[in-house]
Amino acid sequence: MTKVNWTGFSKKSPQERIEHLKKNALLTSNHLQDLQANKLLGLETANQMAENVLGTFSLPFATAPDFLINDKDYLVPMVTEEPSVVAAASFAAKIIRRSGGFQTHVHDRKMIGQVALYDVPNVKMAEQKILDSSALLLSQANEAHPSIVKRGGGARDIRVEAKEEFLIIYLTVDTQEAMGANMVNTMMEALVPTLEELSEGQALMAILSNYATESLVTSECSIDLRFLSRNKEEAQNLARKMELASRLAQVDVYRASTHNKGIFNGIDAVVMATGNDWRAIEAGCHAYASRDGQYRGLSNWIFDEEAQVLKGSLTLPMPIATRGGSIGLNPTVKIAHDLLGQPQARELAAVIVSLGLAQNFAALKALTSTGIQAGHMKLQAKSLALLAGASDSEVGQVVSQLLEAKHLNQETAQAILHKLRNIKN
Ligand code: HMG
Repeated sequence: MTKVNWTGFSKKSPQERIEHLKKNALLTSNHLQDLQANKLLGLETANQMAENVLGTFSLPFATAPDFLINDKDYLVPMVTEEPSVVAAASFAAKIIRRSGGFQTHVHDRKMIGQVALYDVPNVKMAEQKILDSSALLLSQANEAHPSIVKRGGGARDIRVEAKEEFLIIYLTVDTQEAMGANMVNTMMEALVPTLEELSEGQALMAILSNYATESLVTSECSIDLRFLSRNKEEAQNLARKMELASRLAQVDVYRASTHNKGIFNGIDAVVMATGNDWRAIEAGCHAYASRDGQYRGLSNWIFDEEAQVLKGSLTLPMPIATRGGSIGLNPTVKIAHDLLGQPQARELAAVIVSLGLAQNFAALKALTSTGIQAGHMKLQAKSLALLAGASDSEVGQVVSQLLEAKHLNQETAQAILHKLRNIKN
């Protein structure tokens, strides 16, 4: 397949972008028509997805081109309200592609459920009895959700841990293409009577854990310094500073939080676009960021002086789904999966983690060179101009004056627009 040319994509209008997708056969004709007609989530479907529904709530549905992941091209759908996030992802994708793109590794793809027992009279004996009954418990879990067994998945493993006054039973489940929350919850609840009988204790709760340590995914890239800057010394200096920025996020929790927020600018945007549960992903990843007791930056950047490359890597729990939940209901979500080429869950997880790494690269590069404001504020200014009511023909002038102004806010944008219009009249 010949590579699609994405140069200037960002400068096109939404209709022209859709035409570009059409010309390059990147969407099925049904989905193209839906996009062109701006067909959004209907009220009837929305009313099935949540309770007490009054209407629907729209956000920009965008796409970041030029992602090369495991030698395959991706156009990544993103839903975000924040200016510069999609631009930054696209910018990073372009640079990383020139150095061979992203390489990913899906360590495993299983979910974990837990039953917490309390008032267990003899913890050691209960632990042993539960472990001795593993086969029975696994078959009870599978009987509670037989359809997943037919699809090749099902309960795989039982682990028991005593923590303070609790005896906790962890069940590992292969959920195939689903995120598996309902499936795992059903299985966990089905185990409660047997666990109570075996332990002679009480079950406090039975629920899926969002700390998906059995669904880790790693994305890596290795960026040739030539693509950081044409000036060798400047490129080396930048690579060094990006490594330092990554180390800062390892040692300072104030920085780690912002560092990871930048990663989630991208991750959340794709997770939302693909109809997945972004709260679950956030919760799991932030727990993973604190796995050794201190909250740390999730990505790592190392300047390899000998090879003259900047190496980046990001490992996250990514229990993402391609089936179930709202995925089959929301028309825009269906378009997102189409844009990605209908990937399987493992492939989608690899794309999402790569996007997080790209997002982090763009943010750290900006932070350690021009500062975040230069690029961010250029785009922020555009939002302010539009919010102030500037028309297409006025936006450019309002943005350039806003960037010169002392205070970049809506009030200034309105004042600039007002002045412009008064001059014209
Ligand atoms: P630039 O060098 O001015 O970009 O960077 P450019 O105008 O030379 O364009 C280069 C390419 O970038 C374009 O190629 C696009 O791919 C992309 P082209 O299409 O022209 O062939 N690009 C765009 N794509 C779509 N729409 C646009 C657009 N502009 C460029 N309007 C850029 C500009 C904003 C990319 C850069 O300054 C950047 O990456 N900045 C970082 C922005 C960022 O991280 N924003 C997130 C919000 S800030 C935050 O919340 C996170 C943070 O706190 C996290 C942390 O602290 O770690 C920062």
